[in-house]
Amino acid sequence: MEKFIVRGEVRLNGNIRVSGAKNAILPIMAATLLCSGISVIHDIPYLRDIKVMQDILSLLGAKITRENNTLIIDTTNIQEVEIPEHLMREMRASVFLMGPLLGKFRKVRLSYPGGCAIGPRPIDLHIKALEKIGAQVEEKFGFIEARADCLTGGEINFDYPSVGATENAMMASVLASGSTIIRNAAREPEISDLQTFLNKMGAQIVGAGTDTIIINGIKKLIPVEHTVMSDRIQAGTFLVAAAMTHGDLIIENILSEHLFSVIDKLKDIGAQINIGRNCLRIKAGDLRGVDLKTLPYPGFPTDLQAPLLSLLTIATGTSIITETIFENRFKHVNELIRMGAKIKVEGRTAIIRGVPKLTGAIVAATDLRAGGALVLAALAAEGISEIENVYHIDRGYERLEEKLQSLGANISRHKMD
Ligand code: EPZ
Repeated sequence: MEKFIVRGEVRLNGNIRVSGAKNAILPIMAATLLCSGISVIHDIPYLRDIKVMQDILSLLGAKITRENNTLIIDTTNIQEVEIPEHLMREMRASVFLMGPLLGKFRKVRLSYPGGCAIGPRPIDLHIKALEKIGAQVEEKFGFIEARADCLTGGEINFDYPSVGATENAMMASVLASGSTIIRNAAREPEISDLQTFLNKMGAQIVGAGTDTIIINGIKKLIPVEHTVMSDRIQAGTFLVAAAMTHGDLIIENILSEHLFSVIDKLKDIGAQINIGRNCLRIKAGDLRGVDLKTLPYPGFPTDLQAPLLSLLTIATGTSIITETIFENRFKHVNELIRMGAKIKVEGRTAIIRGVPKLTGAIVAATDLRAGGALVLAALAAEGISEIENVYHIDRGYERLEEKLQSLGANISRHKMD
């Protein structure tokens, strides 16, 4: 187990390039199962979740090699359709494998993906979508088994615009006979990147990025090469880091339209942000409190709620954050209170009274984005902080300490005693 040690009150300055998006890469890696042959995916960061997905695909029979930031996935000899329980538990995003395995092999077996720190994470919408196109799904003894003699196009009307369920429905129906329409689909940019990848493979999908997606089933898909979209959540985290440390950052390889809600909110808080071609420049100003509600895209992303909450702990005035997406996504609050933050949580609402400065403390990461938020708080805090259990952070932020060091931060990685 490892920890970060951070000496705070250092302004971040310089340029940082954002890598490929974890939440685009994971479904795209799963989608390679829909064809037989060698797929090549570029701009892949070194993240734990991606390594877990590599291990799962390898256990299913894929041959995977990595050349720097490129993954080469050969799905010629997939024999298995059962996802190993221990890997399912390690990363619930393995649920993305249901769609492609059912779509290609008409069968999939996986252990029920557990909840995680941020909530129970049910998959009822995933299962309902698969049943709508002809799958029989059985849930017993902690396992889910889905099979289909044949998959036929259908109408899927989501009660909630679930990102994963939308992606699973797309991947399950690309090889079905007939057309499938998904209504109340999630509109996240990662879904548009998945549509681009699948259409390169020969699929016929339109509508990703809107709330209605139409998939015309086809017989066969071919392996392709693809460069994934950049990680808007990683970019947003660095924007917040600059605002918190009164720094001056240029963030490269990011599409500003993926972050409009975040840019808008940071400007309300007092940051100056200039938008360039594929880059953003942020210079901090005096921070003032705002209200914030997380929403499905294009609303404010839940994955940046924790970093924003960190920022608001040192903004002037009172802020109110409402987390509408996940049931239990305020686990960073108690750790921030240890650093002197004044926060009260009532259900899905956090009330933050800004303080002039946080003070360093020993805190623990509880989940990926909460861990990121604690690093940001430590960068701004007076004195030394230790952030324990950084394996949570390594799931979604590639070598975070090295990237922050390159911007002037005083942060290092150590073994926990
Ligand atoms: C994806 O999770 C992301 N993960 C999450 O990022 C992100 O926070 C989330 O979308 C929302 O944007 C990946 O893409 C790998 P959902 P997903 O299905 O697909 C409920 C990170 O930090 N729901 O849109 O699981 C669910 O409980 C991670 O990178 C059901 O009720 O999100 C939640 O309250 C965290 N039934 C809400 O919908 C279902 O069948 C949103 O979940 C599915 C979801």
